Amino acid sequence: MEVLAVSRKVREVQASAIHKMSALAAQIPDAVALSWARPDSPTPDHINQAAIEAIKKGLTSKYSPPPGLLELRKAIVEKLARDNNIHVTPEEVLVTTGSIEGLFAAILAVVDPGDEVLMPSPNYSTHELIVRMSSAVPVYFPTIEEEGFRLDFGALERSITKKTKAILFCNPVNPTGAVFPEEDLRKIAEIARENNLFIVVDEAYEYFTFDGAKHFCIGSIPEVKDRVIENFTFTKTYAMTGWRIGYNVASLEIMEHMMKTHTPMTICAPVVSQYAALAALKGPQDCVKEFHRHYLENRNLMCERLDKLGDVFSYQKPMGSYNMFPKIIAKGGENSVEFCMKLLKEAKVATTPGAPFGPTGEGHLRMSFCASKETIIEAFDRLDRYFGV
Ligand SMILES: Cc1ncc(COP(=O)(O)O)c(C=O)c1O
Repeated sequence: MEVLAVSRKVREVQASAIHKMSALAAQIPDAVALSWARPDSPTPDHINQAAIEAIKKGLTSKYSPPPGLLELRKAIVEKLARDNNIHVTPEEVLVTTGSIEGLFAAILAVVDPGDEVLMPSPNYSTHELIVRMSSAVPVYFPTIEEEGFRLDFGALERSITKKTKAILFCNPVNPTGAVFPEEDLRKIAEIARENNLFIVVDEAYEYFTFDGAKHFCIGSIPEVKDRVIENFTFTKTYAMTGWRIGYNVASLEIMEHMMKTHTPMTICAPVVSQYAALAALKGPQDCVKEFHRHYLENRNLMCERLDKLGDVFSYQKPMGSYNMFPKIIAKGGENSVEFCMKLLKEAKVATTPGAPFGPTGEGHLRMSFCASKETIIEAFDRLDRYFGV
C-alpha cells in the first residue's frame, strides 16, 4: 500500500525557526531570550477593562459580522485618515484574526498556484510560509545591507517575470529594523503599476520608527489604491499579541474576494478582542508613546553593547521595529543556526538564526530589543564573558 503522506507543500516547509529557538531556549534553565519579537509589556489596563465590560454586558458570545463590528471598522477608518493618510469607508476594512490571518487572506485572494510573489531579503520569515502555503512561489531579491538594508531596485526589477503576481514586504522591517522611505515606496508603486502587480504590505511596526525616520503607507498613494492590500495589527502597537486582532484595508473589489478567503479561515475575528481593539483606538494613546520610548532606549542600549563586541558582530542601526540583524564576523566557520545553538548552549543567550529570513539572512542573527532593560544587560554581560571582551 502506498504511504499516506501529508501534502508536499507542507512537507517542504520548515517549522518556524523563531518558535523552534524559543522552545529550545525554554529547555535551558537560565537562558536569557532575545529571540522573541513579542512586547514584554502587558496590555494596557483600560483595554483589558473594556474587554471585561463587553463580556459582562453579554456582547461577546456570538459571531460578529465576518468583516468585523461596524463600530470598530469606523474607528479604524478614523485612525487610517489621521495616522496613515488613507481615506476609505468601513466597507474597505476587514478585521482579521491577527495580522497573520489578514496576510493569509490577502495572499490567498490574489495568487493562483505557481504565481510568483516577490519579497525583499531579509524579510519576516512567516511571509514566505504564507506564500508557500498558498501554492505560490516566493522569489527573493536582495537588499543593500551597507545602506541600512535599503531596497535594491535593479535586483527587484530583474526578478520580475511573466509569473510575478505580487510584491509582499513589511515596513518597518522585521528582522532588520529598516524603514523604507517614501521615495522608495513611490518607486515600488510605479513598478507595480508598470508590471500589473498587487502590493501586500505588512505595517506591524508602523508606530515604532526612530531618529526621524518617517513611516509612510504605500496605500496612501491614490494611483495604486486599486492594487494595494494594507495589513495592520494591534499586536505591536498596544502589546496585544495574545488577543489575535488586526485588519486589512483594500478596494471594494479586492475586499469582495478577500471575504471569501477570510470567512472559511476564521468566520470573524474574536469578538472580545474586537471590543478590546475598539478601546485601544478610542482610549488614551500615551501607552504607545511609552512603548516607543522603551524600545528606543533599548535600541540604543543594544547598539552600545554591540559596539563592545565589534570583533564578533557588525550591525546596521535599526531605524524602526524592535529587531536588529547583526552580521556574524567572528571567524568560527559555523552557519547561523550552529552559531545560535552555540550561544544558547554555551553562553545561555537565545537569539534567532538569520537563515530563515531569506537567502541573504545567513551569516546573521536576529536580536529583539522588546525585552526588559535588565534582560538585555544580562544577555550582553554573558556575551561579553563568553567572547572574552
Ligand atoms: C512583521 C510582522 N508582521 C506580523 C507579525 C504578527 O502579527 P500578529 O500577531 O498580528 O499576527 C509579526 C510578529 O512578530 C511581525 O514581526
